[in-house]
Amino acid sequence: MSKQYKVAVVGATGAVGEVMLAILADRRFPVSAVVALASERSAGSVVAFGDDELVVQDLATFDPASIDIALFSAGGAISKEYAPKFAAAGAVVIDNSSTFRYDDDVPLVVSEVNPEAARHRPRGIIANPNCSTMQLMPVLAPIHREYGIERINVATYQSVSGAGRRALEELGRQTAALLSFQDPAPAKFPVQIAFNLIPHIDEFQPNGYTKEEMKLVWETRKILGDASLQVNPTAVRVPVFFGHSEAVHIETRKKITAGEARALLAQAPGVEVVDERKAGGYPTPVTHASGRDPVFVGRIREDLSHPRGLNLWVVADNIRKGAALNAVQIAELLLAEGLPAKAAHG
Ligand code: A2P
Repeated sequence: MSKQYKVAVVGATGAVGEVMLAILADRRFPVSAVVALASERSAGSVVAFGDDELVVQDLATFDPASIDIALFSAGGAISKEYAPKFAAAGAVVIDNSSTFRYDDDVPLVVSEVNPEAARHRPRGIIANPNCSTMQLMPVLAPIHREYGIERINVATYQSVSGAGRRALEELGRQTAALLSFQDPAPAKFPVQIAFNLIPHIDEFQPNGYTKEEMKLVWETRKILGDASLQVNPTAVRVPVFFGHSEAVHIETRKKITAGEARALLAQAPGVEVVDERKAGGYPTPVTHASGRDPVFVGRIREDLSHPRGLNLWVVADNIRKGAALNAVQIAELLLAEGLPAKAAHG
């Protein structure tokens, strides 16, 4: 019998944690046990794991000694404090926060693009990229390999689920409030999100960009292993519940035609081309991405204003490929490398 692992999900009650549990169950990850961890507030409540229910335990008092693999999605402060403790106890940590992503000794892995990087993890921590960078990588990596991308212009249209469960609730609440002529009362977002757009995600940086925008610069370079890549990002929150979209413009060293791009992307793992020049012949968060695994790409056009420019429209479920699915796919890489299980479970 193959090995079975004891897996912890930290942030199990959150928007990403819940889907991590669902994907572990759906993909039949070989678990001997799954431990659902969250704050003391949620301890004792239950979360779903396939047809089973797990009782949530308090992270602060949990002993990680028996854990083989820990998936963290409880925010940066929790990762900073607890991920090293889990790693010191011998677990491999797959961390969805930005805490360790830019450290040289922590690999940043997109399962279809740089799986080999996951093997070198001196701190026992593997970082899961930010959702906006994540969905771009399976599309851009094959183009970069064959045509050499020099510059990326990207404007994101990011759904509220990326900001967590309270943000989902806020969009619902504000929408209902506005439709009944009541005050939308922003709480999680700095200004009203319902029927609005907010060009501000994460903190402003000294250079005038937001941290969400800089993540696209830093993470793209790290994952594609090319510090010379030029990335020009604008990140915008939109009143969509699930699914991020990106208007992407690239400039390549060698010209790539729209037909060549379509053919290349049709073969790219994790990517689905939806590119018919008719109404609905393009991916949208609601019609294609929400609740689905692939990264969808459409509206592939050569740039009218640049001899080696190409435009693309890239859409994915930010909670699945953008976070939970890739984390589980990284865990599957650990299986494939034959990670030992602490207890002999078979
Ligand atoms: P809790 O439900 O106990 O607050 P989201 O990104 O959807 O807001 O989810 C955040 C996740 O991180 C939730 O599961 C949340 O658990 C968890 N979390 C937040 N603060 C802590 C904490 N101090 N210790 C453990 N888990 C936490």
